[in-house]
Amino acid sequence: MKKSNFLSLFLLVCVAASAQFAQKPLPYAYNALEPFVDAQTMEIHYSKHHAAYVKNLNAAVKGTDAEKMTLNEIFATVSKFSPAIRNNAGGHFNHDMFWSILTPEKNTKPSASLEKAINESFTNIDTLKVKLNKAATSRFGSGWAWLYLGQDGKLAICSTANQDNPLMDIAENKGMPILAIDVWEHAYYLKYQNKRADYLTAIWNVINWNEVSHYYKLATATNKSPFDDWQALKDFHQVMSQTFHPSETGNLQPIKARSAEMVQKANDLAKSTIPPAFKRKEVLAAVQQLAADSKKLDQLIQNKKSDKAISEALTQLHDVFHKIIGLCSSEAQH
Ligand SMILES: [Fe+2]
Repeated sequence: MKKSNFLSLFLLVCVAASAQFAQKPLPYAYNALEPFVDAQTMEIHYSKHHAAYVKNLNAAVKGTDAEKMTLNEIFATVSKFSPAIRNNAGGHFNHDMFWSILTPEKNTKPSASLEKAINESFTNIDTLKVKLNKAATSRFGSGWAWLYLGQDGKLAICSTANQDNPLMDIAENKGMPILAIDVWEHAYYLKYQNKRADYLTAIWNVINWNEVSHYYKLATATNKSPFDDWQALKDFHQVMSQTFHPSETGNLQPIKARSAEMVQKANDLAKSTIPPAFKRKEVLAAVQQLAADSKKLDQLIQNKKSDKAISEALTQLHDVFHKIIGLCSSEAQH
């Protein structure tokens, strides 16, 4: 993959910058992956370990340059930050990806393009599993095993220590991760004790190949961001950016002056063609919601409602916009 492609992917996520990081809801019940991953492990892992990384990350970034950065921006320059930021930013991102690439759904399959790439790099999927498990079992102490798209555009396998990942500037093997396996003892010890290999054999029963394929698609996207392909989104973003940011400092004049324009841009966006890579029902729904919420905001302004009500509605609209960006980047980088 070209360096510029990486930059584009980073830029996707830059738009979703947030001062505060938060866990997404787990996409299944704690017991959904039984018997391969037990409910107690899942509950402790998600609600204690991952939650702690998020809490500690928010504390660690406070007052630093990282406070206004996305996870990908932090990773790109992680060597400049404290170990607390490195460990907790990695801990948040890595777990977010891990939850998303697991599923109780049976028989998910790699997409045709992912299968082709797997065959090219590893001969077949069984060899991929053997090699990834080898990387995972040979990781000394705590860490992660990864399937990632390297900077040469080919799939590769590596493992990282602690909470590091291939997005970090300090990574020995750099690339876009598409499949993550947690090999910290907290991921398996209750059920498998010291038998890490048994856990690794079992985990393949719950890998969500649909999601891994989706990550692969994003990683191999051409040298474009959704903004390049989606003019209507770019147009909406411009108005949003120029009205929301002043509102954060109490200046509502820009949104009051441009709410009708925002409605127009939101309607144009709702009617626009969503780039195929991002055409998911959740994106479609969020785009429709953006149009409806823009109209409500405009009505509040026309009806001279309080600044508080206008500000709240604009913030909500901004959240919906970032939901779209988050769904498109789909890397859970908040
Ligand atoms: Fe973990």
